Amino acid sequence: MITIFLSLFAFIFNNNETIKNENVMKFELIQLPYAADALEPVISKQTIEFHHGKHLQTYVNNLNNLIQGTKYENADIETIVKESDGAIFNNAGQILNHNLYFLQFSPKGGGKPSGKLAKAIDEAWGSFENFQKELETAGTSLFGSGWVWLAAGKDGKLSITKESNAGNPITKGLKPILTFDVWEHAYYLDYQNRRADHLKALWKIVDWQVVESRY
Ligand SMILES: [Fe+2]
Repeated sequence: MITIFLSLFAFIFNNNETIKNENVMKFELIQLPYAADALEPVISKQTIEFHHGKHLQTYVNNLNNLIQGTKYENADIETIVKESDGAIFNNAGQILNHNLYFLQFSPKGGGKPSGKLAKAIDEAWGSFENFQKELETAGTSLFGSGWVWLAAGKDGKLSITKESNAGNPITKGLKPILTFDVWEHAYYLDYQNRRADHLKALWKIVDWQVVESRY
């Protein structure tokens, strides 16, 4: 009798889960365009597996649950980031930020930008090397968790912005171009407290073709 009851309970529970998941599977974890170990030694396989497979997956799951039955149920991720606050904003921001972050890297990355982005960087900071220094300084001086950004205004003018927690310059009307994640989960397994060393190493894997296409 107990077995029958437990089987019935499991059946109902599983069916509810299925129905619930069908309704909330809106956002999906992005697929990485490289293998988990492809960015070593700059970012280890273990960090990629935790950062992409666990942290980002959790933000995706959280957002899918949080937007259920709200006005954001059918909204795209950028709209949610621009219009929401609280837990919905935090999880949506982290999805948008991580998508931009993971997709801007390549094992064949590095070097310098070219074309109009290179020109705009030179205009804003004098040289690519000065820009690199400024972005690294922004990253090391950001207190706590957050993101540093290269962002563009509507006039194409570039700026570096620091955003705490899940912040994204899109909320200030700017276009996000390049970002470094300075949450400890991005580097602690590989660099421990050496955030500056991590940021310096990231230049070796930046895929400038992707970054230029955002400008
Ligand atoms: Fe992160």
